[in-house]
Amino acid sequence: MLKGKRILLIVAGGIAAFKSLELIRRLRERGASVRCVLTDAGAKFVTPLSLQALTEDRVYSDMFSLTDESEMGHIQLSRDADLLVVAPATANILARMAGGLADDLAATVLLATDKPVLVAPAMNVRMWTHAATVANVETLKQRGIRFIGPNDGAMACNEFGPGRMSEPEEIADAIEGLLVPAERPLAGKRAVVTSGPTREAIDPVRYISNHSSGKQGHAIASALAALGADVTLVSGPVVIADPPGLRTVHVDSADQMLAACLAAGRIDIAVCAAAVADWKAARPSGSKIKKKAGMAPPSLELTPNPDILATLSKPGPQRPALVVGFAAETENLVANAIDKRRRKGCDWIVANDVSPAVGTFGGERNTVHLISASGVEDWPTLAKGEVAMRLAGRIALHFGQPPKAEAAE
Ligand code: PMT
Repeated sequence: MLKGKRILLIVAGGIAAFKSLELIRRLRERGASVRCVLTDAGAKFVTPLSLQALTEDRVYSDMFSLTDESEMGHIQLSRDADLLVVAPATANILARMAGGLADDLAATVLLATDKPVLVAPAMNVRMWTHAATVANVETLKQRGIRFIGPNDGAMACNEFGPGRMSEPEEIADAIEGLLVPAERPLAGKRAVVTSGPTREAIDPVRYISNHSSGKQGHAIASALAALGADVTLVSGPVVIADPPGLRTVHVDSADQMLAACLAAGRIDIAVCAAAVADWKAARPSGSKIKKKAGMAPPSLELTPNPDILATLSKPGPQRPALVVGFAAETENLVANAIDKRRRKGCDWIVANDVSPAVGTFGGERNTVHLISASGVEDWPTLAKGEVAMRLAGRIALHFGQPPKAEAAE
């Protein structure tokens, strides 16, 4: 809950500004008070009247308003809040924040504040991936600005990819995570989480891989960190951002992923959510394999990759107290997953259907079954972040430290 918390919401000019209206509702439902700064561009998408009606407070837009300055100077506005939230954060406002500009009320307030700032970017995918925006985001992250999203998906401009503003509920959760002192039932525990695909080189330009986006694994790493664990995330190549508040090690191949897991040293918890390629090229070519006229297609000899989950599950003094695997299946989901848990030697396995029609790979939601020695638990379809929070809660419970919500169930 956000009872008594004061949020200054800066609404910049993007089509996602309509979601900010819903965000205000969500925040007020949780007990927060919300005050808005609306940029000129933002006012092309939502009206001051709507914001005023939803916040039950006046809306600030004008940098040089004598009335505003006498009632609430812009410095006070920037400090009279527990958190500043920029939603939607356009490429323009991110650039102005990174450049330290103070050319309107929103930018000035952001420059003058001594409070934490959370931004929810929303823009066209090309703008988000443009080198200028990437550099601005990096600069802002280094300065301690928190980011939520953007999410992948179809955009108003008919393009697809990262750039959609996070959903109001997700932003409200992130705000709560920042403002409400977290319960830390996993404090003192060390965890490794694998996430994303691996890439196995065939030659310097070709590789074997799969469609894992890293969303599920990254969410689990964040959820464990949110409960206080010291987390190392070992990620294959993905386009999503490194989660804040934990260590991310980037790898390409399964061999590198295993080495990074072992390099993490003694750990209490391992969660293997990565979609590791089962095989790699037996003899990757050092130079690009040439296609010559009349040449028969080359054959590719494969050799097995190391099994990271099975390696971490091996009994011995180094074995983590809890090893959790995933089972990606397209048929006989639960039966195959039960068998996989036994073969790999892990404690729990999270079974998920990865048939293309279900859309688990790369999608936002997951329907899983948690399989342990004590049986099979069927979970409802949940957002990947919710699957992650539930799993992290179960892990805390396993260590005898239930988060409050879990204990109340
Ligand atoms: O990344 P997303 O787009 O969010 O999608 C999430 C996911 C579908 C990738 C994830 O939820 C998932 O199911 N991950 C496991 C994918 C997989 O490789 O499953 P598997 O059934 O082939 O492997 C079983 C287990 O062994 C997994 O824990 C896997 O990480 C591990 N494994 C497999 C092979 C190998 N060489 N080393 C391993 O550690």
